[in-house]
Amino acid sequence: MKASNFLKENNARHMWHPMAHPKDSQHNPPKIITSARGVRLCDIDNHQVIDAVGGLWNVNLGFSSDPVKKAIAEQLEVLPYYSTFRGTTNDAIIELSYELSEFFAPDGLATAFFTSGGSDSVETALRLARQYHKINGEPGRVKYLSLKKGYHGTHTGAASVNGNANFRAAYEPLLPGCFHIPAPYTYRNPFNESDPAKLAQLCVAALENEVAFQGANTIAAFIMEPILGAGGVIVPHDTFMPMIREVCTRHGILLIADEVIAAFGRTGAWSGSRLWGVQPDMSCTAKAITNGYFPFGAVMLSQQIVEVFENDSTAAGFIGHGYTYSGHPVGAAAALACLKETRRLNVPVNAAARGTQMYEGLNQLQTKYEMIGDVRGGKGLMTAIELVSDREKKTPLDKKTTGAIQDAIYNNGVMVRISGPNMILSPPLIIDEGDIGKILSAIDSALESVMS
Ligand SMILES: Cc1ncc(COP(=O)(O)O)c(C=O)c1O
Repeated sequence: MKASNFLKENNARHMWHPMAHPKDSQHNPPKIITSARGVRLCDIDNHQVIDAVGGLWNVNLGFSSDPVKKAIAEQLEVLPYYSTFRGTTNDAIIELSYELSEFFAPDGLATAFFTSGGSDSVETALRLARQYHKINGEPGRVKYLSLKKGYHGTHTGAASVNGNANFRAAYEPLLPGCFHIPAPYTYRNPFNESDPAKLAQLCVAALENEVAFQGANTIAAFIMEPILGAGGVIVPHDTFMPMIREVCTRHGILLIADEVIAAFGRTGAWSGSRLWGVQPDMSCTAKAITNGYFPFGAVMLSQQIVEVFENDSTAAGFIGHGYTYSGHPVGAAAALACLKETRRLNVPVNAAARGTQMYEGLNQLQTKYEMIGDVRGGKGLMTAIELVSDREKKTPLDKKTTGAIQDAIYNNGVMVRISGPNMILSPPLIIDEGDIGKILSAIDSALESVMS
């Protein structure tokens, strides 16, 4: 590796960073992370921090999962790549498809289509939804519905169903035929409704209205995250996803669960859909499927969808979709090891317990700091606080102050993610009680110092 001064001089000089302004990255160079162990990162200045971001919601088993590393290394030795395009496959991906069909059986999902990440998975699900309806004799079902505040990645299809203007405006016009309904976001919503159960009903009524307005027979799918992640950890009321399921079923609309964050334990359940007792028609996964060690994803399909495709005797069922890295053997080996480890460690149990600890700790901090406008979480290790400069008016805290808070927390030994006024906390699911305590006290002293 090149010397530190070389790395610092060239930091953000010859590359653009995702979700950042190139000029800003040059003025405020990104932190250079050089190594990681367990739940801790080490930067180029040898500063150690707990990673309360969990990579990017993906390093569920932490940075030292030897079985996953070993599986990757061994697979690289034996078969580093081969395609799964028509005519060839590989042993690792066959085994993984079997394991995933077992893992997702309680969600009513049977068959996998492999991808290279979350945006790919969403794109795949959106495309297959349209194709499903075409094969099924309803070619007019081409539109997509989704939630405002939802995040589904950055491909054009995914950006079109995204519910956050920051990821859309610069790239418009996006895909036609995409419509959004209000999110079950209790802190801010167009109905001024603070009761989560009532808000859930109002959002579902908005969905019903939109379906009636568009015409049910024009809508291919509704896509949602079981818990909205990047939008600021919006946890809907228990009744929300089941009600959405019912509306979709009644109108012949496919329900796509975007489980890119939620699947494999993060919510304290094995999947986000299972948390709410819902069986989706498709589920998009990625991220923790390989613990973030290899770019990989899978879209899981319900038996009903599979049958429509597999019983098709015309060319309509031909899947003219796929990626060079669909079914990558190294990704498959990583995912197999990951699934085994995730089950062995029974990670949802720890995610639920530590998630509760984090949520309760943040609620306590809210009683101390006016600038914590809202605390969201309580379902596994997906937690956020929304920072405001005026609690009454709910004025979002300015970027300069949120940045100063983030820096102070980092100096106190914890990496957190700031997205707009939200501080998002999604550490590895193997984190222990002591480290959650350290995250909370790092936030506590940072808020204290910024206030004074
Ligand atoms: C719910 C959800 N869907 C899709 C994506 C996109 O995944 P990727 O960044 O791997 O393309 C993300 C990424 O954070 C996500 O949180």
